[in-house]
Amino acid sequence: MAIILYKTIAGYRRRRRAAAAAQSEQRLSPGEPPPAPGTRPGTPQLADASVAASAGVPHTPSGGGPAGTAAAPRPDGQAAKVVEAVSREPAAGVPEGRGQVSRPAVIEVRGLRKCYDGLEAVAGIDLEVRAGEIFAFLGPNGAGKTTTVEILEGYRRRTAGDVAVLGADPAAAGRDWRARIGVVLQESQPEDELTAEECLSLYAGYYPQPRPVAETLDLVGLTDHRTARCGRMSGGQRRRLDVALALIGDPELIFLDEPTTGFDPAARQSAWDVIAGLRDLGKTIFLTTHYMEEAERLADRIAVLAAGRIVAEGTAATLGGRDTEASIVSFTMPPGMTAADLPAALAACVTRTANGRVEADTRSPLRLVGVLDRWAQDRGIDLPDLDVHRPTLEDVYLQLTRESR
Ligand SMILES: Nc1ncnc2c1ncn2[C@@H]1O[C@H](COP(=O)(O)OP(=O)(O)O)[C@@H](O)[C@H]1O
Ligand SMILES: [Mg+2]
Repeated sequence: MAIILYKTIAGYRRRRRAAAAAQSEQRLSPGEPPPAPGTRPGTPQLADASVAASAGVPHTPSGGGPAGTAAAPRPDGQAAKVVEAVSREPAAGVPEGRGQVSRPAVIEVRGLRKCYDGLEAVAGIDLEVRAGEIFAFLGPNGAGKTTTVEILEGYRRRTAGDVAVLGADPAAAGRDWRARIGVVLQESQPEDELTAEECLSLYAGYYPQPRPVAETLDLVGLTDHRTARCGRMSGGQRRRLDVALALIGDPELIFLDEPTTGFDPAARQSAWDVIAGLRDLGKTIFLTTHYMEEAERLADRIAVLAAGRIVAEGTAATLGGRDTEASIVSFTMPPGMTAADLPAALAACVTRTANGRVEADTRSPLRLVGVLDRWAQDRGIDLPDLDVHRPTLEDVYLQLTRESR
């Protein structure tokens, strides 16, 4: 029995290393050395941990990280300045709340750039994510989301800029730091032979203070599938397992790179419930997505990334000036009437007329509809297709990403 378990774990370890190495090679630009095996942030240090386990060495929670933890190296140079700023406590007396500026910064980025062989994938971005926030990086394919996220995870090297994540430079952070973050990669390669429960139990052993396996399964809605082998799970169930693996170390900060891409609507909905549940646990979440609805539903704050630059930042309601953009009031003129028959206050706002339909732009839609209402009532007419359109997040997003092309 012990031999079988040992072989399973050893095989598992080998495949994870091979998968990590393959992913690294694929991701690092030519000329960059791949990261050392097993050093992916949020991934347990299987090599050392299993050696320690087989040698009967207990994990040392007081060590702060999986077996044999070394102190996290101190960041140096410019990054140290950011780290210093990040670790400053919020001012006393300032009320705290989700997304409010008084919360300490968990991620701070200044002038981040990443070039791949002449291609500037990330072209100088600044951002800040505060404790307890759900922050969404919204952008089309190729915008630079995964590149940025994997730099923040310590999984890719940056070309330039200062980065501090949980008070450390990810390029130099140690195991203590890794145990504090959870990662869901855009592409995952779960172990086919283990069950969901076995997978989580294996990983739980490598963290100083893991979340209980049963509780983690429950959190992602996999309790009923705990004995399912990973290789037989549906895409949605595998993604949930990815999230569970990111949560098993009970991290403070969780990176989710396109967590629902390829999901059907029902699976997406339940994934959103899982992510919203993480918010309730007080976790800080950095999410990337190209689904506007996902960002709108989940995020406290959204940054739109296009061609490696942040082109807008705000809440779903304020992004790109959405809250102050004009609304469009439109309706079809009654038969025999033209725009010239409208009252002056309304006619002054008319921007388009086509096929008998009138469109008027206004920042006071209620006032304009009031004018229209009185005018129509006085004449005993109705406007059955009257429409008031506020710019949707999609309108704003498409405009922002179109402008940056
Ligand atoms: N390892 C790599 N080598 C060369 N180019 C890359 C590499 N990874 C990403 N890119 C390029 O960088 C740009 C940004 O990619 P990526 O960060 O994956 O964007 P996103 O996650 O927003 O889709 C794309 O043009 C992509 O082709
Ligand atoms: Mg990506």
